[in-house]
Amino acid sequence: MGKIISINNFKGGVSKTSTACALAYVLSEKKRMKTLLVDFDPQADATELLIRTYDNAEKPDALNDEGYKTIYEGIQDGDRVGTTLHLSENLDLIPSDFNLIGFPDHLIKKYRYKDTFDKVKELSNFLEGVREEYDIILIDTPPTISDFSNNAIYACDYSLIVMQTHRRSYRSVEKFLVHLVDFQETYGNEFDVLGIIPVMFSNKTKTDTITLQDAMEDYKDYVFKHIVKAMERVKYWDEFGISEESHWDRMAVNAYAGLTKEFLERLERMEEKQTQ
Ligand SMILES: Nc1ncnc2c1ncn2[C@@H]1O[C@H](COP(=O)(O)OP(=O)(O)OP(=O)(O)O)[C@@H](O)[C@H]1O
Ligand SMILES: [Mg+2]
Repeated sequence: MGKIISINNFKGGVSKTSTACALAYVLSEKKRMKTLLVDFDPQADATELLIRTYDNAEKPDALNDEGYKTIYEGIQDGDRVGTTLHLSENLDLIPSDFNLIGFPDHLIKKYRYKDTFDKVKELSNFLEGVREEYDIILIDTPPTISDFSNNAIYACDYSLIVMQTHRRSYRSVEKFLVHLVDFQETYGNEFDVLGIIPVMFSNKTKTDTITLQDAMEDYKDYVFKHIVKAMERVKYWDEFGISEESHWDRMAVNAYAGLTKEFLERLERMEEKQTQ
């Protein structure tokens, strides 16, 4: 049975999307695991990055097909069929686009006279059955405390927190963890925190080192041992997609391969703990 992982941090620009896409790439290409990335952000950054990786075009042909539905249309219909793009042998994508910005309005209209608890279950309902089709399902989320993040948290088995080793990002992790506790008390759904990934770390910057030390003291084993450094190459991915052509590309992919290894080890440990 596959596992759903929501990639979170309320702070913007902390590498949520880059981390989600790199994990999806390594899991599918190197580990040969059936992987689905759900782009649940109207900014559609993950969609663009992965489409550039596999098609290097603005839009793959499938998106122009009549039978293709956007994630927003799929959610409105309560049906996932027709929303998924097949990018490679082991990687699928449910792409996003700007229309998804209407998601909160859709919830208001649909649940106006009903139990508001249902509002948080909409993405979970849309994703029904994905655990049977994939080994890993990653949800990329926008940087807000909103219907988007709450739906992703409700739908997931694990929340994976991405923390840029900067002070504001560190503080937003604190706020996010408080929100997770409140959320679990309110909605009573079962999920756990898979860990906190320190990203965009630069050992040339003193505050990065101090912030990392503080995170390790506060959150102990929750903090990934594998730290993702700031790498110029990752910025190129926004334009050219993930590549392994040059030495620097391979170095960047390797860094994420190390992260993916720890990601899978943690997942296995957490799963074992739950079955005990
Ligand atoms: N390890 C890294 N090294 C250097 N640059 C990075 C790294 N990870 C991400 N970036 C760059 O930082 C910027 C923000 O990254 P990204 O879009 O992944 O963040 P995000 O948290 O998803 O943002 P948003 O909150 O807007 O969704 C991008 O320009 C990306 O290329
Ligand atoms: Mg993003």
